[in-house]
Amino acid sequence: MARAIPTDPGVEHAVADFLARMSLEEKVGQVMQAEIGHVTPEDVRRYHLGSVLNGGGSHPGGGKRTSPAEWLALADAFYDASMDTSDGGQAIPVIWGCDAVHGHNNVVGATIFPHNIALGATRDPELIRRIGEVTAIELQVTGLDWNFAPTVAVVRDDRWGRTYEGYSEDPEVVRLCAGAMVRGLQGDPRSADFLDGHHVIATAKHFLGDGGTLGGRDRGDNTSSEERLRDIHAAGYVAALEAGVQTVMASYSSWHGRKMHGFRELLTDVLKERMGFDGFVIGDWNGHGQVPGCSDGDCPEAINAGVDMFMAPDRWRALFRHTLAEVRSGEIPSARLDDAVRRILRVKMRAGLFREGRPSSRPLAGRTDLFGSPEHRAVARQAVRESLVLLKNSGHLLPLRRDLKVLVAGDGANDIGKQCGGWTISFQGDGNTNADFPRGSSIWDGIREVVEGSGGTATLAEDGTFETRPDVAIAVFGEDPYAETSGDRDTLEFRSGRHGGLQLLRSLKAAGLPVVSVFLSGRPLCVNRELNASDAFVSAWLPGSEGRGVADVLFRAADSSVAYDFTGRLSYSWPRWPGQTPLNRGEPGYDPLFPLGFGLSVAEDGNLQRLPEEASTDAPRIATPFPIAAAGPEATIRIAAREGPR
Ligand code: GLC
Repeated sequence: MARAIPTDPGVEHAVADFLARMSLEEKVGQVMQAEIGHVTPEDVRRYHLGSVLNGGGSHPGGGKRTSPAEWLALADAFYDASMDTSDGGQAIPVIWGCDAVHGHNNVVGATIFPHNIALGATRDPELIRRIGEVTAIELQVTGLDWNFAPTVAVVRDDRWGRTYEGYSEDPEVVRLCAGAMVRGLQGDPRSADFLDGHHVIATAKHFLGDGGTLGGRDRGDNTSSEERLRDIHAAGYVAALEAGVQTVMASYSSWHGRKMHGFRELLTDVLKERMGFDGFVIGDWNGHGQVPGCSDGDCPEAINAGVDMFMAPDRWRALFRHTLAEVRSGEIPSARLDDAVRRILRVKMRAGLFREGRPSSRPLAGRTDLFGSPEHRAVARQAVRESLVLLKNSGHLLPLRRDLKVLVAGDGANDIGKQCGGWTISFQGDGNTNADFPRGSSIWDGIREVVEGSGGTATLAEDGTFETRPDVAIAVFGEDPYAETSGDRDTLEFRSGRHGGLQLLRSLKAAGLPVVSVFLSGRPLCVNRELNASDAFVSAWLPGSEGRGVADVLFRAADSSVAYDFTGRLSYSWPRWPGQTPLNRGEPGYDPLFPLGFGLSVAEDGNLQRLPEEASTDAPRIATPFPIAAAGPEATIRIAAREGPR
């Protein structure tokens, strides 16, 4: 592959100059990344550490309500320590990586975007690029310069707890989205804004094949053929490299039983040599420790296979000692260590970190006026609108008039944390309240504002009870937040919560009300019974902090015209029964309830025949309710960037 960024002789010379002057200890320190809860600025100075990270739910000082100013202060402290040459070492700026996977989701007050499963449903690369751009700005406000995003997994079994971190089951959709997100985060590699102070280093993850493990098991084994590994699972990396991505994260998963963190043929021979990747490979969180014969504190196999920087959150001291000894003994060739350090320094130089100065001196540092700004939230609200997929609309119930008496029910109606999902302030996205999302809006907020501003009334009742009979009920329910392995499931059965799902819907229907279901989920699930109990059914995925975007589409404009139509199209196939997985277009026997690319507009006939409700995982097949051709390839990808807000 041609490299997106031509070799810069000036950079290469400067890198070589640093390498020649660095001690062995400095080189080993450069390939270590430690977690902020297990490292101090003094450690960074003493060991010349190359990077720090905050893991999901980890905040400077430990409190989840840490302000942007506190993030910035700690970034300065780590930076100053890394530039201290009092011990005769080189001044090499440390870089701080974090998971800003749907906005700067680590910090209260940030703009939280819909998760990638929703962005895949928009098929809007320009919007996705803009989301990356906004995310980079909010990261720079807090002094961070590296984002462990985008996930470019091509998800083939939706039982995986990280399905929602993927854009799609379709490699073409992933390719479209991955390149756009990388260009948004880093800037265009051919332009002057590439990796400037408004952008951050991006990471394509997790290499390779994390979305194709058996049973969707997180960190499991991918047994795809080499052709499918290349044609399906590598699609996002091709796009990310073409967009100039500077780091790639190795996967916890295996390919045919071999852990990716120890897989030289893929990390080095394929990614670096055949695909021409000249950035650096970061390991995943103690992912090296899962390589046979390795531990979290000792793993020459990983660096010899092609990992350039260890993500060693806690055991970095032991790993430093063992790695130093293994280079001295020759178990790790010094040329391999030099190559790893060269790659890290090359990325830091491309990102301008040697000239930019302290994080707090950079262009956007401390600009809290930009953090969660109305302009940024408007981008997120547009993404919510464009991601909604209409699966059922009996009698053209939607869009609703604004002057109705509306009952809003369900445990997702007024819960911004639930609508954000995992990787939100806490690692699992749990333990949050609406107060943790200042200036955000729940789906209830949006509905109330629309209706009460137009002569209607809105009532919130999670349990769906009412005194004054409403004209329509909107039930918001779905999955509770989860992240990674805790999200793995055995089937695609939806288990509704206390006031979310079937019991609620059936009680509303029994009261003779038209029912609109708004379903919050990180994946398609078997919801035949909920579909039968609904007159209209919207898949809202995990929309993030701007719940108002849902009401924008559910309701007509003030003049009763269609304000925003449903334009979201499934980027994952929807199952007929809980056991119908893996379920991917192009595979033998493909027979989904709703195919990849499906999504109704309000003008289309949205009547849906009654679906089987047997609880078994092997429910009988039924005739396809919609012709698959209705959502053929032309619905899969919409390349043209849309003009303006929709
Ligand atoms: C996690 C994830 C990875 C994330 C890293 C740092 O385990 O696998 O996606 O970037 O650790 O939080």
